[in-house]
Amino acid sequence: MKVARIAVVRGDGIANEVMPEAEETLKAAAEAASFPVDFEYFDWGSDRYLEQGRGMPEDGCDTLRAGFEAVFQGAIGDPRVPGSIVQEEVILGVRFGLDLYANIRPCRLYHEDLTPLKNKGAGEVDHVVVRENTEGLFVNVGGFFKQGTKDEVALQEEVHTYKGVERVIRASFDFARRHKRQKVTMADKASGLRYAGGIWRRVFDEVRADFEDIESEAKHIDAVAMEVIQHPGEFDVIVTNNMFGDILSDVTSGLVGGLGLAPSANVNLEGVSMFEPVHGTAPDIYGRGIANPMAAILTGALLLDHLGCGEGGAAIRRAVEEAIAHGERTADLGGKLTTKECGDAVRNRLK
Ligand code: NAD
Ligand code: IPM
Ligand code: MN
Repeated sequence: MKVARIAVVRGDGIANEVMPEAEETLKAAAEAASFPVDFEYFDWGSDRYLEQGRGMPEDGCDTLRAGFEAVFQGAIGDPRVPGSIVQEEVILGVRFGLDLYANIRPCRLYHEDLTPLKNKGAGEVDHVVVRENTEGLFVNVGGFFKQGTKDEVALQEEVHTYKGVERVIRASFDFARRHKRQKVTMADKASGLRYAGGIWRRVFDEVRADFEDIESEAKHIDAVAMEVIQHPGEFDVIVTNNMFGDILSDVTSGLVGGLGLAPSANVNLEGVSMFEPVHGTAPDIYGRGIANPMAAILTGALLLDHLGCGEGGAAIRRAVEEAIAHGERTADLGGKLTTKECGDAVRNRLK
């Protein structure tokens, strides 16, 4: 069988603690499913930026496209480099450079005691945020005027193109169909933003007409942010713009145990996709060996699914669910395990 070549970007901060656990778990699950994988490591991130002046080489995405089936990436960001330069170069650099237009962020409740909601059991919160991933506010088009004076002006422009909106909405319906999900909710701010709201509503109406088998609704993001907490069961696939999706996916992770359990896939079905946990580098806990590796481990499951090793992905999710049920947890989930012990616990349950 052909070996799947995976580019691994370890990343910064707690990524250095959780990624080794996730890599080892991915390897174990792939091996058990007789699905050969091979890792090549890239030192992209803040150390590289501090040493060489760039978080990743200019031709980094060419390297990824030419030699790999997928990218497995840890979080990026380090307090020694203020601002967003390394995040722009590496995170946005890879998402934009590989044109990964759909950021898929599943949110599933694995155990009743992980949710602040009453009377919700495993599987009773189960939805997916599909975040537009190549435009919106993140294009970083803008500038300063009269910087450093009391008259300073900062402009941060937001971009929504027909192509960008259409393809991510279509991807969310395709995803719903493939994964047997019933409904797509589009969340925008058509109540106040004439242009952004206008294009998202129009394109949503156009695309939904091609998917009559799937229920669909358009809602305002502020209302969705409330309703997803009050009635999470009403949501299935939620498609939204880059900024709203960034915030909403952290909000909904809070319903199921937090960022320590939230995986994500940055997808372009015609190209090389990138897989990273939703969380960041957590400088507040970095170095103590207590970060939860499960978000990164579950991200590895999404990567295996994507490469066609659904058996490996499902085995990882099962092992995580079992470990959680048996109290094998890090501190963020009310447990006592270290990062390493938690990784071992999941791998033991793979067997
Ligand atoms: P963060 O996700 O790093 O941390 C938010 C909170 O969640 C912190 O209290 C942290 O301790 C906790 N947390 C996060 N992951 C955890 C885990 N696996 N286990 C246990 N607790 C966990 O977000 P932040 O504080 O806003 O950002 C910190 C840095 O990370 C910044 O430099 C930011 O730019 C970067 N960041 C990167 C990514 C990415 O690479 N995709 C995502 C988010 C933030
Ligand atoms: C995430 C992060 C990034 C984003 C930042 C660090 C640029 O918050 O992956 O959710 O907003 O996409
Ligand atoms: Mn985020």
